[in-house]
Amino acid sequence: MQIAIDGPASAGKSTIAKQLAADLHFIYLDTGAMYRAVTWWALQQDIPLADEKKILTALDDEPIRFIPAPGGQRVELFGHDITMAIRSEAVTNNVSQVSALPGVRTEMVKRQRDIAAGQNIVMDGRDIGTTVLPHADVKIFMVASVAERAKRRFKDNAEKGIHVPLEKLAQEIEARDFKDSHRTESPLKQAPDAIKVDTTSLTIPQVVAKITAIIQKKQ
Ligand code: C5P
Repeated sequence: MQIAIDGPASAGKSTIAKQLAADLHFIYLDTGAMYRAVTWWALQQDIPLADEKKILTALDDEPIRFIPAPGGQRVELFGHDITMAIRSEAVTNNVSQVSALPGVRTEMVKRQRDIAAGQNIVMDGRDIGTTVLPHADVKIFMVASVAERAKRRFKDNAEKGIHVPLEKLAQEIEARDFKDSHRTESPLKQAPDAIKVDTTSLTIPQVVAKITAIIQKKQ
């Protein structure tokens, strides 16, 4: 069974997807972390972020590893633990530029499909229901107001000791949504057969319950 969860930045996709995967004993794949890992590596190597060829050469066939860890997964690339680094403001504010590169997308989509092959999986991202897994059994398009998403990110940041004003976070979220939904290659959009779930005024357990009910109808 394949479950695709797409939606704009900070709508709660990964929190919910992780929980669903744990409840169902499915694999969880955070595709955003893959684009973040590529962006981190390009920044690390001082590669201009528009230079698709150089980025792909630098990445080569190196796998982006997801390793089970207490409370979630650790992300590794070229032997570096980049779990925290890929959540930095620098990566967050540059990832949309890298993820818009067609060659980077082709490579990531191929890797994502390889991981999904023959497995029960919950995958979250921007183009899962439209491009990566067009035949997914359940497709969810998760949304929330910009104000609510900025508040959630503010809280996440505070827990990590990062302090960015709420207003700036809202602007960054809107800028990322705009870039992600206006790129040429598989832009963020709701698949025609996806079910929209607005999480603005819902708690995490309420969203999980809502999506679990949708999944149960398909099982
Ligand atoms: O989900 P997350 O916010 O970590 O994603 C980071 C970025 O990666 C997104 O803003 C988007 O640019 C890119 N992305 C994408 N396609 C996906 C997942 C993420 O383009 N399937």
